[in-house]
Amino acid sequence: MKRQVRKAVFPVAGLGTRFLPATKASPKEMLPIVDKPLIQYGVEEAVAAGVDTLVFIIGRTKNAIADHFDKAYELEVELETRGKTDLLQIVRSIVPPRVECVYVRQAEALGLGHAVLCARPVVGNEPFAIILADDLIEEDAREGGALSQMARHFNKYQCSILGVERVPPEETNKYGIVRPLPFASRISNVDNIVEKPKPADAPSNLAVVGRYILTPRIFDLLENTPRGAGNEIQLTDGIAALLNEEQVLAYEFSGRRHDCGSKLGYLIATVEYGARHPELGEEFQAYLRANTHRLDKSAPPVEG
Ligand code: UTP
Repeated sequence: MKRQVRKAVFPVAGLGTRFLPATKASPKEMLPIVDKPLIQYGVEEAVAAGVDTLVFIIGRTKNAIADHFDKAYELEVELETRGKTDLLQIVRSIVPPRVECVYVRQAEALGLGHAVLCARPVVGNEPFAIILADDLIEEDAREGGALSQMARHFNKYQCSILGVERVPPEETNKYGIVRPLPFASRISNVDNIVEKPKPADAPSNLAVVGRYILTPRIFDLLENTPRGAGNEIQLTDGIAALLNEEQVLAYEFSGRRHDCGSKLGYLIATVEYGARHPELGEEFQAYLRANTHRLDKSAPPVEG
C-alpha cells in the first residue's frame, strides 16, 4: 500500500541566538512577517500538503507556540462583543478543525537531530515531514507550496526527499550540501551529504534547506548518531547514515526562499511581504519609493 505524509514536525526549540533579545522569551518562529508569525506560514504550507497532525518540538520558551495555536476564548468573546467579525474569523481559522496539534518538550537544545528524535513517540512508524519555519518559502502560483510539491514526489517514489536549493558557491559553509547523481528533472539521487563544507570541499552547491520528508528509519539512526558539529546531534549525520540503507532524493522546489533565521533575510522578507500585503501593500510601496533618502548613511544609526 502506498504511504502518505500525514504528520509534520516543527522543531522550534532552538536557542535563536541570532535574534536575541527578541527570542529571550519567545521562539524565533513566533517572529511575525507583517502580521503572521513564521510558524503559521509553515503550518499553512503543511496543511495545504495534506498534513493532519502537527508535532511541535518546543523548548525553553514552551508556552508561546501552544498559546498561538490554542483556542483563545477570552479574545474571541471580546472580538465578538465588539462586532469585529473579520478579526474573529482570522483568530478562529489559525488551525483548521480537522488538524491536531501535539506538543513535545525537548528538555535541552541538543541539536536539530535530537529535536527530530523527540517526535518519535508521536510519529511512530510512518513517513513524516519536517518544516523549519524560519525558512519561509513563497508558494509557487503553479506548483503550490514547497511541501506540497515534495509530497507529490513522495507519493510517486515512496522514499525520503530533501528540499534543496542552489546557493552561491561561496555560501556552502552555511548549509548541508548534497553530492547529487542525476535522477529526473529537478530531482537528484543523493549520493552523499556534508554539513557546512568549505566552498573548496563542497560536492556541489545544492543546499538542503528547511523542508524534509523522511522515512521512520531515520529515528533508529538518530538514536545512534553521536554528537557532531557544535557538540549537537545533527540531522545531517542521521541522513548521511540513512543514505547507506535507503534511496534519498533531493528535490529542487519551486518558490522563493527567505532565510528568516538571519536578520537580513528576515528584513527582506518583511519588506517584500509588506509590499504585497493586500491591505497596506500599495501604501508601503509608495512610502518606500518616496523615502529612500531616509535610508542612507546620514540617517542616525540604529543600535543592534
Ligand atoms: P538553528 O540552526 O537555526 O539554530 O536551528 P537556532 O538555535 O534556532 O538559532 P541560532 O542559530 O542560535 O540563531 C534550526 C532549527 O532547529 C531547531 C530550531 O528551532 C530551528 O527551527 N532546533 C535546533 C531545535 O528545535 N532544537 C535544537 O536543539 C536545535
